[in-house]
Amino acid sequence: LLPSSKWVSPLLLLIFLQMPHLIAGRFTIIPPQNPVIAVIGEDVVLPCQLTAADNPDTITVQWILSRPPNKIEVSTYDGQIKEVRRDERYQGRTQFFQTEFRAGNVSLNLKDIKVSDKGKYTCSVSLNTWYDEVVVELDVTARGAKPSIFLEDYAGQGIGLTCKAEGWFPEPQVLWLDSKGENRTEKLTTNKKETLAKIYNIESSIIIEPGSDNEASCKIINHVLKTASESRVLISEPNVFFPTTSPWMAAFLVILFLSIATIAAVGFVISLMYEERPTSPTNVFSSSERLSTELDFRRAQSYAVAITLDPDCKHPELRLSEDKKRVWREAASPQPAAASRALLVVGRKGFVDGRQYWEVEVGCKGDWELGVLSQAARETVKREEAATLPGEGCWSLRRSQGDLFSSPEMIGVFLDREEGRISFYDAGMMFPIVTIPAGLTEKCLYYPFLSPGNSTGEQKPLTILPV
Ligand SMILES: *[C@@H]1O[C@H](CO)[C@@H](O)[C@H](O)[C@H]1NC(C)=O
Ligand SMILES: *[C@@H]1O[C@H](CO)[C@@H](O)[C@H](O)[C@H]1NC(C)=O
Repeated sequence: LLPSSKWVSPLLLLIFLQMPHLIAGRFTIIPPQNPVIAVIGEDVVLPCQLTAADNPDTITVQWILSRPPNKIEVSTYDGQIKEVRRDERYQGRTQFFQTEFRAGNVSLNLKDIKVSDKGKYTCSVSLNTWYDEVVVELDVTARGAKPSIFLEDYAGQGIGLTCKAEGWFPEPQVLWLDSKGENRTEKLTTNKKETLAKIYNIESSIIIEPGSDNEASCKIINHVLKTASESRVLISEPNVFFPTTSPWMAAFLVILFLSIATIAAVGFVISLMYEERPTSPTNVFSSSERLSTELDFRRAQSYAVAITLDPDCKHPELRLSEDKKRVWREAASPQPAAASRALLVVGRKGFVDGRQYWEVEVGCKGDWELGVLSQAARETVKREEAATLPGEGCWSLRRSQGDLFSSPEMIGVFLDREEGRISFYDAGMMFPIVTIPAGLTEKCLYYPFLSPGNSTGEQKPLTILPV
């Protein structure tokens, strides 16, 4: 069934000479757009479309992967005996759309893509004496997880940061950038480990010296999908919160996760980590610093509004108290897939302008996430039963579990439409955690939201506090 190209052309020529009226351009295959890009673990359709719209079902379709010097007969539909054959390596992973054959669609559905599926596939179609083929190139890629930045250790006067990102393919590019988005000048070491499934786990380290730009971002770039994923760390001003020997020992880290789909602007998520210190931070403020941060906080707090949560815009696994001020998660979901999703509840009322402040008690344990959603993001969340946090129109502060760090127990959120920014405060200590210039200029509603994360039970709620 595999006519070698040496005799296909003379044969075709012969056919043309003998019966031109039968073939007269009746069948050709539309050349595909190459390459087709598939994501590892997902499905892809290898396209093969005939120009003729009404085809007899006696056509024979064959998909072959060339792996020089071998050829793998991936899947064949034999129109004479109406039977599908598959190579054993593709058992259960390929499927024709047989009902579409008549319409000339002889594409092959390839499931659960693996790295080894990358290659050139030939779709050949024959009917009686007619024959044509096209080559479809399949490129395989993996999106990979968002990078996470870890505070590794103090190295001399500097601090060592490590960025980890798993599940990338092909080998991604790793960049460390500063606050202006330019390459950092420090030397970095990057390890790329290939897993059994041939995808890459990345680990990249850098030592940031005192006095250099205090923002470091680790950016992982997938050149096939033309996407990048980025995490950012801000290292706080020295001597603000903690007594130190080295100024950088004082660092507390605010980590911003950014997912960047090409150049689309996205909302970002901030993950906050405090370094645990035995001394109370209040002791070490100089009195004037203390006063100015406290004044800033008091000013934000003066815009306090009452928030109630919306029972009609929440994930089904979340429970609300009767006063709609407290949210917690019911017992863990039996499906692990659901457990990994962000579970959130949105505030009943959105804000169109002005300034608003609210406080949330988060407790001292567990993961949580809270912040602000745009109206459009709220609609998405509502449609999908609040299953996932949207990438765009979402600004939030997140606590990720980690033994090294402790975190504040009361978070103040300040939505400042006049200045176009969102600030988060440690409401107990009355100091600012981070301010995000969110560019909230357009006239649309913005809603508060809370997500109690993956810890369950009524003992671990997030609670809106009266201010
Ligand atoms: C063929 O049909 C399948 C299933 O309906 C569809 O996904 C695919 O896009 C079609 N291919 C072409 C080339 O039209
Ligand atoms: C950073 O360096 C990489 C290669 O080392 C280069 O491709 C990239 O353009 C540089 N980026 C900037 C912003 O200079």
